[in-house]
This record gives sequence, structure tokens and C-alpha cells, in this order.
Amino acid sequence: MTDLRIQAVGDDASIHDWQYVHNLIIPGDVLSFDDVRDRTGRNRMEVAYLGDALVGCTTVRPPTKDNGATATVIARVLPEYRRRGLGTRLYERALGQARALGAQAVETVVLASNPDGLHFAEQQGFVEFERYLLREGDTVPWIDLRLT
Ligand SMILES: CC(C)(COP(=O)(O)OP(=O)(O)OC[C@H]1O[C@@H](n2cnc3c(N)ncnc32)[C@H](O)[C@@H]1OP(=O)(O)O)[C@@H](O)C(=O)NCCC(=O)NCCS
Repeated sequence: MTDLRIQAVGDDASIHDWQYVHNLIIPGDVLSFDDVRDRTGRNRMEVAYLGDALVGCTTVRPPTKDNGATATVIARVLPEYRRRGLGTRLYERALGQARALGAQAVETVVLASNPDGLHFAEQQGFVEFERYLLREGDTVPWIDLRLT
């Protein structure tokens, strides 16, 4: 298998690629290019490729003093590249980054319409603690889970 190549989001091409994966997987929360660029200032974000093919992305929201040193870690893999271990590799890498940033607790967030993501998070040891709608009129809840 071609090696997985992972790079930090920074230049325009990588911002576009991260945006593409995010918006395809989370169609209810479409982000603009500028939204994504803004997030690179707050979060640690990476994109992953097999050869030249874009396969996924990650987000690590760093721990802060105000949130009890809790980091949020999210791995995303495009549907056609799932169930071959890529999600686990991206998640473990992002979890390592969160720990290196000093996270004492780790959370993730999954859209309820995404059974693959929910199952994956539970397999990794996350337990649901909150379910909510982001905006009025939304029908699909977000699920916050904490690593136990
Ligand atoms: C969650 C997500 C990242 C998983 O990606 P993935 O690449 O399919 O992850 P993996 O391949 O590492 O693991 C998924 C399953 O495939 C299995 N698997 C891994 N390699 C496999 C292989 N070669 N053959 C068959 N199955 C395999 C794993 O054991 C795992 O099964 P399990 O959940 O029953 O234990 C992906 O579904 C996704 O992007 N979901 C949307 C975003 C999201 O909700 N993220 C969750 C927050 S972290």
C-alpha cells in the first residue's frame, strides 16, 4: 500500500483539502475557505494523502486553562477509504498531539447521523455525555463524547 502522508494545514491547497473533507462529511456545517483558515490559528489541523489522493483530515482543539485542560480530537476519513485502518492512524496521531499539548482530558464530537463515527469513537473508549442541536431548525444532534 502507498504510504500515508500527513501534513499540517497552512497553505491554500491544504486549506482547500481540509475544507473538502470536512464539508463532505459534515454537510450540515459547511465551512468557507476563510472559516477554515481562521481555525488554523486556533486548532492543530492536518490533511492526509495516500500517494496524491486526499483521504482524510484531523482537528485537535487544544486544551485551555478555562476548560479543565480538555482537548477535542477529531479524525475524518473519506467514505471510500474507510475500514482499512486509516482512521485509527489519524486518530492516534491526533491524540498524541493533544497529549503533547498538555491535555488532561480528551473529547470528541460526532454527528448523530454518522454511525461509523459513533461506533469508531466508542471502540476507542469514548463515552457519550451530551447531545444537542447547534442551531434552531437543525434536526440531527451532535454528540459529545469523553475518553474514559
Ligand atoms: C470514524 C472514521 C474516522 C473511521 O475511519 P476508518 O478509516 O474507517 O477507521 P479504521 O479503518 O481505522 O477503523 C474502522 C473499522 O474498520 C476496521 N478495520 C480496520 N482495518 C480493517 C481492514 N483492513 N479490513 C476490515 N476492517 C478493518 C476497524 O477494526 C474498525 O472496526 P470497528 O470500528 O468495528 O473496530 C470515519 O468513519 C469517519 O471519518 N467518520 C466521520 C467523522 C467522525 O465521526 N469521526 C469520529 C470522531 S474521532
